[in-house]
Amino acid sequence: MGTTTAEEDEHVESGVVGEGTSHDHGDASEEDGPAHPWFARLYDPVMRASEAKLFPPHREYLARDLAGDVLDLGAGTGAMLPYYEEAIRSGAAEVTMLEPDPHMREQAVAAAREDGIEVTVSDARAESLPFPDDSFDVVVASMVFCTIPDPEAALDEVARVLRPGGEFRFLEHVTEEGWRRLAQRALGPLWSRVAGGCRLTRRTGELFDDHEAFVLAEMERLHLGVFPVRPFVRGTLERRDSIAEMGADPSVRERVREAVDAARDRLARR
Ligand SMILES: C[S@@+](CC[C@H](N)C(=O)[O-])C[C@H]1O[C@@H](n2cnc3c(N)ncnc32)[C@H](O)[C@@H]1O
Repeated sequence: MGTTTAEEDEHVESGVVGEGTSHDHGDASEEDGPAHPWFARLYDPVMRASEAKLFPPHREYLARDLAGDVLDLGAGTGAMLPYYEEAIRSGAAEVTMLEPDPHMREQAVAAAREDGIEVTVSDARAESLPFPDDSFDVVVASMVFCTIPDPEAALDEVARVLRPGGEFRFLEHVTEEGWRRLAQRALGPLWSRVAGGCRLTRRTGELFDDHEAFVLAEMERLHLGVFPVRPFVRGTLERRDSIAEMGADPSVRERVREAVDAARDRLARR
């Protein structure tokens, strides 16, 4: 399954790499999965001040009333762990942390072990999740859609693995507008190299708002962060209950009909 629990004794690498680990999408340069040792080593020290001063209320938002099966997409070094701790210890939530970069993942496993927090850690990419449909009640993404090579495919996967009525909670930095966007674009290539593949000018809020599998429960644009990593969007999408609800949009109805026809064809050929 490509997973391990932070409680297991085996070495992180042997525990996480294996069947169910899928790397089907993404940049050619990242075909074998991201691996940024320096970024991973510097991530916590560089983020320390922001983690202390800027992010706590937003991380609390992501972890509020956490219950059921939870997936943390691109969990990094495990920055959300302290916010999940209470729900995990009380048995309210079971958390899977997905992290494809071995250098980040190693730190996430170490942090969970050190604090004795039981989580499952999975080596896979968000664009190709090794979980069945309808597996999770909550999916969390914090500062990860800036880095995922194919964000559309990742959002489709979030829709697939969330149970109907489940929540996708996010905190993501997005593009500025006007001259600041131009400056972000100029800085982009260098930034992406030093910041583990992070893109500064994504319109992630629009991407989330447009997906037909979700109802937008709330989204706020936040004047948070330090240029060039600002502003942010924070919010929650709810997975629609049923295909019938999606059927309100004719283009979706058409796609559902095509999918049903294709399934019928496949059955008929058996
Ligand atoms: C900026 S870090 C954020 C980490 C963490 N969520 C946090 O809030 O601190 C982005 C993370 O996304 C991970 N990542 C990169 N490509 C990914 C992919 N295709 N699927 C899932 N995670 C990915 C990176 O390895 C990195 O750990």
